[in-house]
Amino acid sequence: MTELTAEIGKTRLDVIVADITTLDVDAIVNAANRSLLGGGGVDGAIHRAAGPELLAECRMLGGCETGSAKITRGYRLKARYVIHAVGPVWSGGGKNEEALLAGCYRTALDLAAEHRLKSLAYPAISTGIYRFPAALAARVAVGTVAAEIAARPRGIEQVIFCCFTQDSAEQHKNAFADLGLV
Ligand code: APR
Repeated sequence: MTELTAEIGKTRLDVIVADITTLDVDAIVNAANRSLLGGGGVDGAIHRAAGPELLAECRMLGGCETGSAKITRGYRLKARYVIHAVGPVWSGGGKNEEALLAGCYRTALDLAAEHRLKSLAYPAISTGIYRFPAALAARVAVGTVAAEIAARPRGIEQVIFCCFTQDSAEQHKNAFADLGLV
């Protein structure tokens, strides 16, 4: 269910409400933890849908720093790749959380470009178990992706903000409006 569509240059940005494991895109982004060895939330859903080979590949990666991301294949998912991003745990906003969250969105775009991917989908990183306030997280997410794509499109044709709830989609739509993108 597409809630909003915007264009930045030749790149289409969509806000949808869906289960990210169902999307037929080049890469889906996972909201992982630093171990990259799975967890609950969207991390658990992606590992369940991708099958055990995903964890086997993740074990070879040696973890990932907060604010960054690493890429694996997608295995049984429709998505060809999974980009495992490690978002910050919200600690009140005084621990560089916004910059670390922006780093997840930016690194995912860089990894997509390195692998010549045309489409990728993000969940609302850090807004579940990591308790990042949803409205602020949406502004960081949309603002970072919009600024990065405007500056360097990286050949990416479609970016999807795949929200799990209508409220999350509203937060992302508000962010697009606040940024004058619609
Ligand atoms: N598809 C899309 N979005 C989803 C799905 C799904 N199948 N399942 C959950 N979400 C949404 C949540 O509603 C939330 O908006 O993903 C967002 C991120 O929530 P979490 O999965 O809890 O991730 P996060 O807050 O980043 O916490 C990461 O949780 O699962 C563990 O191993 C993970 O330790 C890490 C921590």
